[in-house]
Amino acid sequence: MKWEDIDYHAKEWVKEAGDKIRLSFEKTLNIETKSNPNDLVTNIDKEIEQFFIDKIRGVYPDHKIMGEEGFGDELKSHEGIVWLIDPIDGTMNFIHQQRNFAISIGIYENGIGRIGLIYDVAHNELYNAIRGKGAYLNGKPLPLLKETTVKESIIALNATWVMENHRIDHTLMIPLVRDARGTRSYGTAALEMVFVATGRVDAYLSMRLSPWDFAAGAVIVEELGGIVTNLKGEKLDFLSMDTLFAAKPGLHQQILNDYLKGGKY
Ligand code: IPD
Ligand code: CA
Ligand code: CA
Repeated sequence: MKWEDIDYHAKEWVKEAGDKIRLSFEKTLNIETKSNPNDLVTNIDKEIEQFFIDKIRGVYPDHKIMGEEGFGDELKSHEGIVWLIDPIDGTMNFIHQQRNFAISIGIYENGIGRIGLIYDVAHNELYNAIRGKGAYLNGKPLPLLKETTVKESIIALNATWVMENHRIDHTLMIPLVRDARGTRSYGTAALEMVFVATGRVDAYLSMRLSPWDFAAGAVIVEELGGIVTNLKGEKLDFLSMDTLFAAKPGLHQQILNDYLKGGKY
């Protein structure tokens, strides 16, 4: 019962936050930069995170919160119930396109993902999963993922990783891009993960993400039988930044063995 109650509240708050974001399309955004000129944040990212924090603290004062914009708690462990919140994942798209962004909320208990909610605001599509209870798109159950191979797959990855960069030996990526049926890049980790969950893409790779980027997506993808690890094939700890590799079963093993082995991540 506990998780259904939490899920009910979380969904209500996510929809309310979606309405606030839609209203903001009519207003002028206040845009700032963070770690570099392309790392953007707006007043809406901050307002939405604060909105969730106020709601959560009001109903669940003993839960902890890890939010991208820093209004939550400083966490050193995942003890207890922790909400991992990205108020807007894909802020650059939010600013430039008013689409291809999402609200992402993962709810974890002692480090285990219990609830994942990803709301594609522009399309009014809410993806959710409660561990062991299935994954849904706007309330409709999503089917389990089937095995596939590289040559029949579409792989989501950023073009940056296929040119010389300081995070991965790009020569490892070239054969993967060549052998796959196609590649895509959407600029929002949360939606790229639900695209794996819905089979719109078959795998998603990224070199550097934070726990709030993938916490919700991991619950949804795993609920459907997909595999979520870092690029070494190890479990994620959901406390620190890491590489990310989410894929259909079978394909995950094939890419790890045939393409990623030997790389330094
Ligand atoms: C970003 C998006 C993007 C990914 C970045 C993330 P933000 O999140 O998920 O797709 O490549 O690494 O930081 O900053 O828009 O919440
Ligand atoms: Ca993000
Ligand atoms: Ca964000």
